[in-house]
Amino acid sequence: MSTSEVTSGVGYEECRATADWLLSHTQVRPTVGIVCGSGLGGLAEMLKEQQVFKYGDIPNFPRSTVHGHAGQLVFGTLKGKPCVCMQGRFHLYEGYPIQKITLPMRVFKLMGVETMILTNAAGGLNQDYKVGDIMIIKDHINMPGFAGISPLAGPNEDRFGVRFPCMSDAYSRELRQLAHDVGAELGFSDFLQEGVYCVLGGPSFETIAECRMLSKLGADAVGMSTAHEVIVARHAGMRCFAMSLISNRAVMDYDSQERANHEEVLETGRMRAGQMEKLVSTMVARMEHNNNNNCL
Ligand code: HPA
Repeated sequence: MSTSEVTSGVGYEECRATADWLLSHTQVRPTVGIVCGSGLGGLAEMLKEQQVFKYGDIPNFPRSTVHGHAGQLVFGTLKGKPCVCMQGRFHLYEGYPIQKITLPMRVFKLMGVETMILTNAAGGLNQDYKVGDIMIIKDHINMPGFAGISPLAGPNEDRFGVRFPCMSDAYSRELRQLAHDVGAELGFSDFLQEGVYCVLGGPSFETIAECRMLSKLGADAVGMSTAHEVIVARHAGMRCFAMSLISNRAVMDYDSQERANHEEVLETGRMRAGQMEKLVSTMVARMEHNNNNNCL
């Protein structure tokens, strides 16, 4: 494949054009980017002095096709900090090329975003986890990556980052500590976990054998998002923090009557949304600038 075929619609110039279009349509100069997972779009409503762009109106942006994802970009301030918030994200199972799914990360980078906060809903593999737990992501397993499906596949764009980016420091240690500290202060410790997130392509939920395998491989939760965005954000030098709302327990037992479904995912989101929002907004209020591209 030629360079232009791989980067069609997602190369540096297209990302630059989208970033410039947004910068010319909003006064906000965001330093924090937020991605809202399934059923967690309420976070965006916390932004003050909002300016909203439907994905369909943003040049070069994909459309969100999933129920529970509003499909709009919200600019504003959260606790006085300029933010941009994706109310709805893109997934492999929607059929988009993986580079398109992660395009917003590059656009955010070009708009000046330094720190990304990502949320998702995930199935709990760890037997100690309960529905409604919030898992701070300390690391990920990128299953599609094992098959060569990476948002960084193709010619490297040096203007964003290096050919072989480090991923052993993908999830900021400093922000994970901040989440624990803020969570404890807010009285959330009973349902706050920290663990490994495994991304799969979906859209089918996992079989029992797959859940057993993932658990043996060291995954604590399984979902269909986030890791690809983090890979691209880290490649571009942005600091990342991510957390999963455990919306259902992965079925691990052939005698179980439990069956994963999207309604349960959205319902759990409604139950914990307020607390997730409080955790994120308090973290943002306390966050220091990340101006040295480091991985702490
Ligand atoms: N599996 C994969 N993705 C998910 C799940 C799950 O059980 N729950 C929410 N997203």
